[in-house]
Amino acid sequence: MKTKVLMVCLGNICRSPMAEGLLRSKVDPQKIEVDSAGTSDYHLGQNPDKRMIATAKNHQIDISSLSGRQFTSEDFDRFDHIFAMDQSNYENILKLIRSEKDKEKVELILNRLYPGEDMSVPDPYFGGDRGFEEVFQLLNKAIDIIVKDLS
Ligand code: 4NP
Repeated sequence: MKTKVLMVCLGNICRSPMAEGLLRSKVDPQKIEVDSAGTSDYHLGQNPDKRMIATAKNHQIDISSLSGRQFTSEDFDRFDHIFAMDQSNYENILKLIRSEKDKEKVELILNRLYPGEDMSVPDPYFGGDRGFEEVFQLLNKAIDIIVKDLS
């Protein structure tokens, strides 16, 4: 059976599409299914932010055709692991849990890299281009650990 992983941020146009593209690039699609979503409805149906697409492309990852969608409580049924990019996303996801089993699926992604530190992937949306590369580097390191843990 496939393991299903969901990456979640606020808008689903910067951090979580990058996390989705990175994880996809490192796993066998027959074994691991990957998706992303936003806790908000700000960018439904939109492709990722041009700056995040460009940063991904610099690292040979194509996220240009991904499309924004909003996280729903049904995602707790569809996915085995739900990774929040920041503390606020984490709290918004937890508002929708229906059981302890739902809650156990949710974690802050950087806790895989820096266990117990509850660090957030910085939101690059209102910053400069450098923020996007920083997001890529942080996610790349965290996702390498996730891939190792999944295998
Ligand atoms: P993301 O970044 O949560 O990494 O996709 C953001 C995208 C859009 C907004 C905020 C953060 N916004 O306020 O529209």
